[in-house]
Order: sequence, then structure tokens, then C-alpha cells
Amino acid sequence: MFFLLQPRLLLPVLVCLLCAFTWAQERNVILETFDFLRRGQIDANLENYDNNLQMEKEYDFIVVGAGTAGCAIAARLSENPKWKVLLLEAGGPESLIMDVPIVAHFLQLGEMNWKYRTQPSDRACLAMNNNRCNWPRGKVMGGSSVLNYMMYTRGNRRDYDRWAELGNVGWGWRDVLPYFKKYEGSNVPDADEDLVGRNGPVKVSYVNWRSKIADAFLEAVQQDGLQHRDYNGHIQNGVNYLHTTTRNSTRWSSNRAYLYPLKGKRRNLHVKKFALVTKVLIDPTTKTAYGIMVRTDGREHKILARREVIVSAGAINTPQLLMLSGVGPAQHLREVGIKPIVDLAVGFNLQDHTAPAVTFTTNATSLHFEDFADPTLVNRFNRQEGPYGSPGGCEAMAFWDLDHPQLKDGWPDIELFLVGGSMSSNPAISRAFGLKKIIYDSMFAEIEDKELNAFMIFPMILRPKSRGRIMLKSTDPQKYPLIYSNYYAHPYDVDISVRGVQKAISLINYPGFKKINAKVWNRRIPTCKGIEFGTRDYWECHVRHFTFTIYHYSGTAKMGPATDPAAVVDPRLRVYGIKNLRVADASIMPEIMSGHPNGPVFMIAEKAADMIKEDHGFKQ
Ligand SMILES: Cc1cc2nc3c(=O)[nH]c(=O)nc-3n(C[C@H](O)[C@H](O)[C@H](O)COP(=O)(O)OP(=O)(O)OC[C@H]3O[C@@H](n4cnc5c(N)ncnc54)[C@H](O)[C@@H]3O)c2cc1C
Ligand SMILES: *[C@@H]1O[C@H](CO)[C@@H](O)[C@H](O)[C@H]1NC(C)=O
Ligand SMILES: *[C@@H]1O[C@H](CO)[C@@H](O)[C@H](O)[C@H]1NC(C)=O
Repeated sequence: MFFLLQPRLLLPVLVCLLCAFTWAQERNVILETFDFLRRGQIDANLENYDNNLQMEKEYDFIVVGAGTAGCAIAARLSENPKWKVLLLEAGGPESLIMDVPIVAHFLQLGEMNWKYRTQPSDRACLAMNNNRCNWPRGKVMGGSSVLNYMMYTRGNRRDYDRWAELGNVGWGWRDVLPYFKKYEGSNVPDADEDLVGRNGPVKVSYVNWRSKIADAFLEAVQQDGLQHRDYNGHIQNGVNYLHTTTRNSTRWSSNRAYLYPLKGKRRNLHVKKFALVTKVLIDPTTKTAYGIMVRTDGREHKILARREVIVSAGAINTPQLLMLSGVGPAQHLREVGIKPIVDLAVGFNLQDHTAPAVTFTTNATSLHFEDFADPTLVNRFNRQEGPYGSPGGCEAMAFWDLDHPQLKDGWPDIELFLVGGSMSSNPAISRAFGLKKIIYDSMFAEIEDKELNAFMIFPMILRPKSRGRIMLKSTDPQKYPLIYSNYYAHPYDVDISVRGVQKAISLINYPGFKKINAKVWNRRIPTCKGIEFGTRDYWECHVRHFTFTIYHYSGTAKMGPATDPAAVVDPRLRVYGIKNLRVADASIMPEIMSGHPNGPVFMIAEKAADMIKEDHGFKQ
């Protein structure tokens, strides 16, 4: 101690403390800067920013929620010039910063995120504050397609054949394929040409920046036996760099894809932002939906729907809104003080994909804070170079059928995806996940060091067996519903997650990863200390701690045949027992598909729009 106090030694010690302090300060300052930018400039050339829109008293169709599904449906229905369509969105316009793929993590910290959280658990989300997982959701034009990581997948053809097998006529792979092709505007050069869509509104591209780490991942996975292929083509089992919903390093949200091109051209489509729908109006005697109540411009409005109300508020808000309107499990509704109009299993069947990421160190250059935080990246024209077009650092993915490794064309149960940075590359990441400080400090703070390079592999479970539930907490539409993720209620989900972790770790034994000196980062989780590192039990403890959601909430207004007591909507997406009311968004998935759902939700929306047109006699 005394020796430390010698002036000669004190100076370097102080300087060092100071630089650590400045670094931490700098990281916080940048976070604040982004907080400002998030509310920043909008693209006035494209955005229909008419906040003074006076809504009419009545429309043909009212679409609730301008997310992935809602924008597509509103755009398609208003193709009939005779129909007046109203699209209502709780959030505001997209801004330029949201277009930049690399900043994806930051967006979760701002007000364009609903910022939901799951109820505390003692078997999952243990590394997160209060054992609650953060569940972000877009609250902005474009919905969660503005918050998402743009990873583009269709899932497996068997997912849809399975939907059909469950009694959902018209939803088999052959039936839905035309809708995938319809919305896809892919320029992926090596896509399976007979299956891909080239001219649709939703642009799909490779990212034009790639790290050495991603190259190594592709090599190692191929050395393990998978082929480099179009995982959105004939065979899903394989590995590739990401297909992303971007073009020219710009995020391709549903708003950009479907609504920007209509600016000033669709007089029969009205879009109202900052408008929270609080109730679907349903006549209790005729059981017919006839309009909605919406809070906007500081008051409550009643707007009527001549033909239909379409709820596309996403897998959390859709069940909430249905229940607030008297559509849901009768007993639960009575308990919270709502008179049930129809008794349906709304809010049940909640599914999600989780991925307990594993961290590796490497001697290849990984993403560092500067890559995310360079202020010039707001400039659209600087984005073509460097990692700015990379969706939050996600770079490549691979699909395995671990239960049937001998099958060349299996039905994958695990996806591994690669992120070319770590938990500490960017302070927004650990904040977005809500990581406990003690866990972050003991495991990841060291990697903030600019000399250390690290990456993550996320083993994402594709067909979970646990089912959660959304319940009302209050009759106040502004109060958030209760979210019971019920992660790991089924032991299969723990088991397959652990096997996914082990698969990820096994890859470092291949020459591809040896070349970049990839090593498992073995700082222990403080609360798993009694368990020997690297054993199956250790990885189970890891899985229960790092229950990272990949944000694929779905299933809460299940589609099914009339014989299915758990079904909320029929295969034409009409709510059972209520006329003129449909649901079209991620909620209707009877079983979550094996991949990332943004694309499949576009498919659902395109198909919904066609069915609605058909039911109302509009031929194109
Ligand atoms: C952080 C994050 C990352 C993701 N990453 C990927 C990815 O890389 N790849 C992928 O394929 N998928 C990803 N997803 C999932 C994907 O984006 C969603 O599955 C998809 O956007 C869901 O579409 P939706 O139409 O069902 O709901 P949303 O897009 O969430 O739309 C619902 C809309 O309704 C609005 N709304 C809700 N309630 C009301 C109300 N009462 N009144 C008015 N408006 C209301 C909301 O504000 C929102 O705009 C991610 C999601 C998140 C959140
Ligand atoms: C991408 O950029 C190129 C070159 O500037 C331009 O010609 C093209 O139209 C852009 N693509 C889209 C879909 O905007
Ligand atoms: C990284 O490590 C590997 C294995 O030790 C070595 O072969 C390679 O040359 C190293 N690369 C760099 C850039 O240091």
C-alpha cells in the first residue's frame, strides 16, 4: 500500500483509473446521443407524416396496428379504390436512424419499443434483472419490423404442411408458397430460382460486409457436414451468410415496403399515428364487430367499420385487445370484470424462440463499440462501407436436425447463428437484454478491452414444446398485460437447448475455427459456481440463466378448425363466434415455424388480404 503511494507510481495508476473511467463515460454518452437520435429526423420524402388527419366516421375496413402484418394488409385492401381503409398505429413515424442496420440494439432502448417484460421465473431468465426477460416489441410505423434484426427466413416447408395437417385448409406449403413469392423482392444471386420471389415489395439481400469470423463459421459448419446453401430454398438444413430484409444497407420495414411507395397516391387509405385502439366494438346480441374505440389527439373516438375490423396488433397486444373487447376465456374475463361476449382460448398457446448464447474469444477482429457508435453512420451515404449494413452484427446462420443427423433434408430443431461481437461490444446489448450487473461485470466486462476480440453463437431452439400465456392485469388498455413465457415448462426445451450449446462449442474443433483461434470464454456464471464448468449440468445452468428471447412471440390467437377447442380463428382468420372480425399477425400461428417469423408474417398478411378480397367479392 505504502509503496503504491510513492508519487512516481501514483501517476500511472491514476492515469489508468482515469482512462477506464473515461471509457465508461464515453460509452454512456454515446448511449445518450442515440437516445436523442432515436427521436430524430424522418424521411420526409417517403413518410406520410400527416398528423392532422381528420378521421372519418366510418370506413369499410379498419386495420389495428401498422406492424409487419398491418401495413401489408392495409396496402393490399386499399388496392380496391372503392374501399376506404383506416390503419391505426399506437406509435409514431420511422426515423432515419432506424434505417441503419447496425444500430438495431439501440432501438430497444427508446420509446419506439413497448418494453414488455415477462413475469419472474425461477427456472428461466435467471441472468436477467428480477429474473424477468425483456420482451421488446415495435411501437412505430412498421411495428416490430423496425426493431428486428432483419434476419430473413421462411421456415421449413413441413411447418406449413403441419398447419394444414392440424386442419387448416389452405395453409400447406404448396398453398402458401405463392404468397412468399408475392411479397419477396430478393436479389440474393444464388437463391433457388424456382422458389424465390424477385419482384415483391419486401427487399431481401445479402449484407455487403463480412467479417473473418463469419467466414470461419461457414467453414467450420461445412467441415461438420452441412452444405453451404439457400436455407430459404428446397432444403433448409445448411449454412449461409444471412439473407436480410435490407436493400442498399437500409432496413426494409413493412412500412417502407408497403406504405412509402403509396405516399400521396392512395386517397382511400388513411393512416393515423399515435392512435391507441382501446376496444373493438361488438354488438352483444348479433355478435357482430362494427367498429373500434381509439385514443388519439387527446381524446377517445368511435370509428365505425362497414365491412370488417382486422386486428394486427402483434402476439401480445392482439390477445390483450380481444380480451378487452369481451373476446376471450370467459372465466378469466369475468375475474377481471369484463363481460364475455364469446368464450375463446385467447392468450393461450404463447410460443417463442430462445437462444442461450455462448461467447468465444478469437484472434480475428470482432466488432467493437466504435463500429456501432460512429456518429457518421447516420449519414446514409457512408453506410455502404464497413459494418453499418450489418444487422446488429448478426452475420450467418445454420440449421440442424439434431434428432435425425443422418437426414440430408431434415426438419431442423436447432439453428445456430453467429454474431461477430460480444455482450460487451456495445453497452446497448446488455441493457436491451436487461442483464444483471453482477453477471455482466463478472463475465463480460473484461472483454470491453479493445485488444480482446470475441464473438457469440446463439443456439436457437426451433420447435419448443412449452406454451405460455398472456393474461389481462387490468381493464385499462394502457396497462400492460401479464406475460407468462413459461420457458422450459417442458423438459425437451431445456434438453435441446443444452444440445444446441454443445453443438456450438463442438465447432471450434474444426480447422475453420482453429485458424482464428476460437476458444470458449470460460468465465463462470457466479450463481452456477458449484457446478463443474463444461459439464451438461453446467450448460443447463447456463441455459436457465441466458434465456435470451429471439423475439418470436406467436400463437396467442391460434388458427384451427372448428373442432379444435383451443382455436380462436378459423382458417380464413375469422374470429370464431363473431362476425366481421379477423386476426392477421403472428398470433394466428398454431405452431411456431422453424426460423425467424417476420417473413412468414408477411405471408400471413398477403394471404389474409386475398381471402378478405375474395370474401367481399373483389377480383383483381
Ligand atoms: C427486437 C426484435 C428482433 C427481431 N428479429 C427478427 C429477425 O431478425 N428476423 C425475423 O424474421 N423476425 C424478427 N423479429 C420478429 C418479427 O419482427 C415479428 O415476428 C413480426 O414483426 C411480427 O409482426 P406482427 O405484425 O405480428 O406484429 P408487430 O410487427 O409487432 O406489429 C404490431 C403493431 O401494432 C401496434 N399496436 C399494438 N397494439 C395496438 C393498439 N391497441 N392500437 C394501435 N396499434 C397497436 C404496435 O405498435 C405495432 O406497430 C424480431 C422482433 C423483435 C422485437
Ligand atoms: C439501391 O441503390 C441503387 C444505386 O444507387 C439504386 O439504383 C437502386 O434503386 C436502389 N434500390 C432500391 C430498392 O432502392
Ligand atoms: C490466430 O491463431 C491461429 C492459431 O493459433 C494462428 O494460426 C493464426 O496465424 C493467428 N492469426 C493471427 C491473425 O494472429
